[in-house]
Amino acid sequence: MLTISNVRKTFNKGTINEKKALNGIDLHLDEGDFCTIIGGNGAGKSTMLNMIAGVYPIDCGKIVIDGVNISREPEYRRAKYIGRVFQDPMRGTAANMEIQENLALAYRRGQKRGLGWGIKNQEKERYKELLTQLDLGLENRMTSKVGLLSGGQRQALTLLMATLQKPKLLLLDEHTAALDPKTASKVLSLTERMVESQNLTAMMVTHNMNDAIHIGNRLIMMHEGRIIYNVAGEEKKNLKVEDLLRKFEQASGGQFANDRMMLAR
Ligand SMILES: Nc1ncnc2c1ncn2[C@@H]1O[C@H](COP(=O)(O)OP(=O)(O)O)[C@@H](O)[C@H]1O
Ligand SMILES: [Mg+2]
Repeated sequence: MLTISNVRKTFNKGTINEKKALNGIDLHLDEGDFCTIIGGNGAGKSTMLNMIAGVYPIDCGKIVIDGVNISREPEYRRAKYIGRVFQDPMRGTAANMEIQENLALAYRRGQKRGLGWGIKNQEKERYKELLTQLDLGLENRMTSKVGLLSGGQRQALTLLMATLQKPKLLLLDEHTAALDPKTASKVLSLTERMVESQNLTAMMVTHNMNDAIHIGNRLIMMHEGRIIYNVAGEEKKNLKVEDLLRKFEQASGGQFANDRMMLAR
């Protein structure tokens, strides 16, 4: 479903701020793969997802989604088949619009027609059903403004919006990091349920190594713009946090004591 070959990205090339963010990324995901991504601060995790989504052009290499080379496609065109959820709960939803309006906009993604024709009753029924499955009581607040919701409720709604039209790829960048632990774990299990039930292909950046091990069927570790570890299946399932720490230590020469990854075991 996704093939990335030799993708490189340097920011501020030729200046004193030059930064090689991606140093030759190769990755292949099959349809239905759920890949967690770990690595220290500045490893290039967000940049990799940004390159896939087309936020910035790549310097070289190739990104193929579902057999189509999208390397040169602009972000807005990729948005039709890529769903995204970011760390900031404010980013994925429109605060001054109703819950049902947010959903309706997500449903019309990539279409010319906006909300001018209104939301059909049949559509509202479907949204109600989907919101009920979130188990957050939102089904009774469909005309509430999204700005009134909590961070966790907004992330759950963003997740629903990102998957309303089945995306070819779902990109999650520490989407539970800003939530309290209880809410984070709710949104995480919701994520797993959605990926499972729709057989989505997904990538999830997390700084929680336990989550990285226990969620999904693939795991990659990044360091200095490279994928330094790539595991799947049984090998991934049998991993221990200690194994990941050791890998990370080997790659970084032991300099990880201050890293956020350490703090979130
Ligand atoms: N838009 C940008 N302009 C300049 N440098 C950037 C930009 N985005 C990321 N970087 C740099 O690229 C490196 C990788 O960043 P990032 O992908 O955000 O890391 P991660 O998500 O793994 O913490 C960092 O050194 C960061 O400062
Ligand atoms: Mg990041």
